[in-house]
Amino acid sequence: MSSSSSFAGHVALVTGGASGIGLACAERLRALGATVVVADLHAGRTADTAARLGLRGVTLDVTDREAVAAVRRQLEAEGLQVDRLVNCAGIVQDPLPPDALTHAQWRQVVAVDLEGTYACCAEFGSAMARRGGGAIVNIASVAGMRSMPLHAYSPAKAGVISLGESLAAEWGRSGVRVNTVSPGYTVTAALQSQIDKGLRDPEKLKANSALGVLIRPEHIAAAIVFLLSDEAQMVTGINLPVDAGWLVAGSWSTFGGVRPGLHHDNHQETPA
Ligand code: NAI
Repeated sequence: MSSSSSFAGHVALVTGGASGIGLACAERLRALGATVVVADLHAGRTADTAARLGLRGVTLDVTDREAVAAVRRQLEAEGLQVDRLVNCAGIVQDPLPPDALTHAQWRQVVAVDLEGTYACCAEFGSAMARRGGGAIVNIASVAGMRSMPLHAYSPAKAGVISLGESLAAEWGRSGVRVNTVSPGYTVTAALQSQIDKGLRDPEKLKANSALGVLIRPEHIAAAIVFLLSDEAQMVTGINLPVDAGWLVAGSWSTFGGVRPGLHHDNHQETPA
């Protein structure tokens, strides 16, 4: 392992770290030597994750700004100054027209996905800026980059992309980098719940991506950890889609979809 991809001496906070993409990030950062704190709404999963990985777990609702501030103060009092932040806490929504999507549902999605991301950036990113360094990766979605029948989720994720650009400029001279990763369809509890409800069809999701596969959480975590690492020390303010080519393949549906691979052993499974 090269020294620039080691996280020894760094303190990483992963929100939503008890499941899916956040959990994969926590595992990878831990393996690379970081001191990792998982902050998640789900108390049971947070405790299990903390015990299994031997790291610090904190039950936190990212929509509660005062609770986010209290976690920051508590960690600092313990000597844990977070200098790597991954904002993975998020919820999805069912595809609904505006007359079926209640205002309470709309506000909840925006509160967790956008407001919660901002709250954690404002608390932990400001502290990093005052100390003179750090790196943040926020998780948006390809849903924030294209039209979809997700009238709360898509605007919330577009807001996360915009927020990353604003904060990267805000804190650049303070040594804090802020980047965004926009996953495509990734096999996690969140996506599985939509598949189980019949609201997403895995075969169609695969068919609409260039690579013809669904993504695994580790694939997203690899990109996030790269952006947090010193390998990416000149990268700030970007939005990196990690989408198996969903963004480029979608418009091919007008022409009957992307062509099959030329190789006879054309893979349809998620590559290792
Ligand atoms: P997941 O459901 O497996 O994990 C999300 C975690 O966030 C859960 O542990 C949950 O308890 C936590 N969480 C929810 N509300 C919270 C709150 N208010 N405060 C603190 N923690 C809270 O979901 P997944 O798929 O790992 O999603 C992670 C992020 O990736 C989300 O922002 C999601 O929108 C985004 N994403 C996921 C995609 C996918 O296909 N799975 C595609 C594009 C984006």
